[in-house]
Amino acid sequence: MELEGRRILLGITGSIAAYKAAPLCRLLKTAGADVRVVMTPLAKQFITPLTMATLSKHPILVEFFDPENGAWNSHISLGEWADCLLIAPATANTLAKMAAGIADNLLLTTYLSARCPVAIAPAMDLDMYAHPATQQNLRTLAGRGVHLIDPEEGELASGLTGKGRMADPERIAAFVEELLREKKKTLSGKRFVVTAGATIEPIDPVRFISNHSSGKMGYAIAGELARRGAEVTLVSGRTALPAPLDVRRVDVLSAAEMYDAATAAFDRADGAVMCAAVADYTPAEPADRKLKKGDSDLRIVLRRTRDIAAALGARKGDRLLVGFALETDHEADNARAKLEKKNFDFIVLNSLRDAGAGFRGDTNKVSLIDRAGRTDLPLMSKTEVAARIADRIEEELAAR
Ligand code: PMT
Repeated sequence: MELEGRRILLGITGSIAAYKAAPLCRLLKTAGADVRVVMTPLAKQFITPLTMATLSKHPILVEFFDPENGAWNSHISLGEWADCLLIAPATANTLAKMAAGIADNLLLTTYLSARCPVAIAPAMDLDMYAHPATQQNLRTLAGRGVHLIDPEEGELASGLTGKGRMADPERIAAFVEELLREKKKTLSGKRFVVTAGATIEPIDPVRFISNHSSGKMGYAIAGELARRGAEVTLVSGRTALPAPLDVRRVDVLSAAEMYDAATAAFDRADGAVMCAAVADYTPAEPADRKLKKGDSDLRIVLRRTRDIAAALGARKGDRLLVGFALETDHEADNARAKLEKKNFDFIVLNSLRDAGAGFRGDTNKVSLIDRAGRTDLPLMSKTEVAARIADRIEEELAAR
């Protein structure tokens, strides 16, 4: 593990899992990190400041000031000092306060003023973890870019068995190492096409058929590939989003326009990520004047659009093609069928049955499926999902 010179602020909250903060601190120190520890007042009941001070080799910070001498612990300087704020364990109470912006202890004020990446390793009873309030708070935090280190299933302190046990210190330390790894220009020299957003199929000059895609997922992917040095053409349906930095955006409206733009850009590309929600049907004969309402029902004949991904799949050669599948039932079977039919190298499955996944929000919960198997990722921000997809693209390219 490589954390030489990295500054990690370890926040400990009042959970029985606080005892795991000791081996976690040791792992981070052994990897070369400078670790400072902030504890909530309740955390001191679970692990002593002396233990953590001895392991971190720094005094422990709990209060805003020292009552003996008035020395002030500045949450702002702590936030500025850290390369990463890691809260492990993070209780349901602390998560709720973070989501609500409550600042009633030193750790929470530090969180609110931190500019560095923040990672949290929740630890709690299974029912507290599954409670809609906790899940909503986790979604809120993930949507704001907080990195979630999923808890594990197993026996809990309560004696019950289920999901809520804090991740092992080894997994948490590896997560932080990955988070802080310098992103190199690992995709420079590569060209990618990314489709994003919703298409718009006109019924008449006033009405259209469309869907709920905001473009956030596709824009996050385009931005991440560009950050890694790729030359990216983003073929975008209508969205309110600004183009990501260093990305060439081509605006389109209909599925037919998206087809033309995506196929033209694919000719010069090394790969494509098909994230757009493209209409499968379009009004066969859009009216050139506003349709007037009558007394009877209106029937609109819809014609099939061309499948952009399938067209690229049919001629991809040794180019990499990544698809998406948005499903509501029989998710894995449907995704595998699309993987084959459209000749994707791998497909990213998101299901509308998962809270926090799919359209519009800032989070997604996806599985990466290829012909060898599937990898299920936890709920995370769309930015983080994009990074995981980019990692997978790099692996696929390296294996060629
Ligand atoms: O934009 P957001 O609000 O962030 O939401 C993100 C998202 C939910 C739109 C995204 O994560 C997603 O799932 N995109 C694909 C949605 C979709 O239309 O899936 P599908 O299962 O219908 O299509 C399968 C694949 O074929 C997709 O890669 C799609 O882009 C592609 N396709 C489909 C039809 C068509 N005519 N041409 C295509 O290229």
